[in-house]
Amino acid sequence: PPLDEILNLHDFEAIAKLVMAEKAWAYYSSAADDEITNRENHAAYHRIWFRPKIMVDVTKVDWSTTILGHRSSMPVYITATALGKLGHPDGELNLTRAGAKHGVIQMIPTLASCSFDELVDAAQPGQVQFLQLYVNRDRDITKRIVQHAEKRGIKGLFITVDAPQLGRREKDMRMKFTAEDPSEVTKSGSDGVDRSKGAARAISSFIDPGLKWEDLDWFKGITKMPLILKGVQRWEDALKAYDLGLAGVVLSNHGGRQLDFARSGIEVLVEVVSKLKEKRGLTFPNEKFALFVDGGVRRATDVIKAVALGATAVGIGRPFLYALSSYGQDGVEKALQILHDEFEMNMRLLGAQTIKDITPDMVDISNISSH
Ligand code: FNR
Repeated sequence: PPLDEILNLHDFEAIAKLVMAEKAWAYYSSAADDEITNRENHAAYHRIWFRPKIMVDVTKVDWSTTILGHRSSMPVYITATALGKLGHPDGELNLTRAGAKHGVIQMIPTLASCSFDELVDAAQPGQVQFLQLYVNRDRDITKRIVQHAEKRGIKGLFITVDAPQLGRREKDMRMKFTAEDPSEVTKSGSDGVDRSKGAARAISSFIDPGLKWEDLDWFKGITKMPLILKGVQRWEDALKAYDLGLAGVVLSNHGGRQLDFARSGIEVLVEVVSKLKEKRGLTFPNEKFALFVDGGVRRATDVIKAVALGATAVGIGRPFLYALSSYGQDGVEKALQILHDEFEMNMRLLGAQTIKDITPDMVDISNISSH
């Protein structure tokens, strides 16, 4: 269908399923084991309800914000998803270019199909990019990647901590990933890999399962970029990250692709905000320590719920992959435009003029927790 018939982010998924190569669909859509967490990620938002304010002047509404000190046209960023060329020959460039048009930050994955430099070169002057880091067993390689990224102007290093081993994504495992596959190209991947059990396994064998808290000192010694842990799932770990002086955490279960029965990021957010207030007197959103959430975000209302509960911004993954697979850059731009339109309408209906007006009293979370 033509792009103007797409009404929401869910639509991209339905179309991608029809038009994508089977292998690519399996890699993008799959999640771990019985995919319970993947479903829960989105379902958790259905348990949060709004408490809108009436008769606020919402002639003008503004949903722009700042993320780690950088302007963003909305409290959303394009999160890191590997192997963009499985879906489209231009791969992650579609995300860079669409991000530029809409003033949205892109997190470049370690396992991008395009080379890191290609994606940085494609950015517009002033366009902000982050880097997602898989830590290599060979720390010299990691050091080189990190220092190169800083030199190229990357504004935040998101270290993935939920993938000491790749989860079992059985849909993907049923697909053989062959060396001839042109879309397999990843410039920063690894050698001597098992290609017989799906894309994920083929590209991930270099990741260090020995990564530990003590290693963060080493990272602080090699870079000045803000450090963020991606994949935190309990308040105790968020507190530790804060105490170690990190810039933030992403409350995420990797789109349900790692530990099945991990909780949704939005529920973990409620726990983290409550405990960090209790233990350290922190309030959120917080300039010194950012809480990000990802997983299952498909509507501006989902984003608004996360913001109300204290998130600085949320990451969105699969919808942008489905958009680029179906329509290339135009698709990603359309996805971002849809989110903008949804923000405008929902801010008005909620009675919120700016992001600062989206406060905890705007949501009813009695169905999700007792924190
Ligand atoms: C991911 N994600 C991910 N995360 C990461 O830290 N490094 C990576 O290489 C990847 N690769 C990747 C590939 C694909 C196909 C998907 C769908 C996801 C996880 C990603 O950053 C994010 O946590 C989730 O995608 C968020 O969930 P949604 O928005 O996809 O539901």
